Amino acid sequence: MTKDITELLKTVRKLEGWLTDKEADILYRLAKSCPNNGVIVEIGSWKGKSTVCLGEGSKDGNKIEIYAIDPHTGSSRHKDSHEKIWTFNEFKKNIEDAQVDDIVEPIVKTSEDASKDFNKPVAFIFIDGAHDYDFIRLDFDVWFPKVVEGGVMAFHDTIGWPGVKKVVAKSVYKSKYFKDVKFIDSITYAKKVKQNSLKDRIKNRYVLFLKNMYEFATKLHLPKFIKKIGKKIVKKIQ
Ligand SMILES: C[S@@+](CC[C@H](N)C(=O)[O-])C[C@H]1O[C@@H](n2cnc3c(N)ncnc32)[C@H](O)[C@@H]1O
Repeated sequence: MTKDITELLKTVRKLEGWLTDKEADILYRLAKSCPNNGVIVEIGSWKGKSTVCLGEGSKDGNKIEIYAIDPHTGSSRHKDSHEKIWTFNEFKKNIEDAQVDDIVEPIVKTSEDASKDFNKPVAFIFIDGAHDYDFIRLDFDVWFPKVVEGGVMAFHDTIGWPGVKKVVAKSVYKSKYFKDVKFIDSITYAKKVKQNSLKDRIKNRYVLFLKNMYEFATKLHLPKFIKKIGKKIVKKIQ
């Protein structure tokens, strides 16, 4: 984990959401290193936990605008809830408190609706919206063409969520259009390319194999220290 993220973690740990510290760290770093040949897009902001990581990263980097897209009416985790969900007010307050509201442009729409009139090139996109197969498939299909060559696509919950797992396996790990695929906890991220090489494809398949082994191991009741060592090894050998 990077040293300069300690303060950020203090802020984001207080916010409701599902990101691990390592996931917060990678979002911060990807936003920080984002080149200014496009904007940053987030699909699925909930109450702003991931948005704050992206905002802080971007501010410490090239200060690239972040478009935070969410209808704010609840996630796949809430589809069985009978309560009406409206997260926009809390989202707004959280990004204001974290002082990233000046760099974040909220778009209160679904990913599909927002994509229709979104014409800016995308340098980095983080997808964490609805997790059912058809939705994540659609998220990928409508946003992939907007991502610039060399841009990064990242997906949350690529472990444990069958729909997300299936889409990233087919369209990222086994695709001709990505290289340097990596995963950290449940986030998979990769660089879009015009056409990857055979070496890239072999490497991507190898990382998919590691991810599947990692997911299998997380289901076993192993002692905590073994899991910790396993995570370190997995990070090293990717
Ligand atoms: C898992 S939460 C996002 C969590 C957030 N990224 C974080 O780290 O705290 C999923 C979010 O996706 C939003 N969502 C659901 N369907 C969507 C869609 N079609 N397009 C965009 N966002 C959607 C929900 O409103 C919810 O806020």
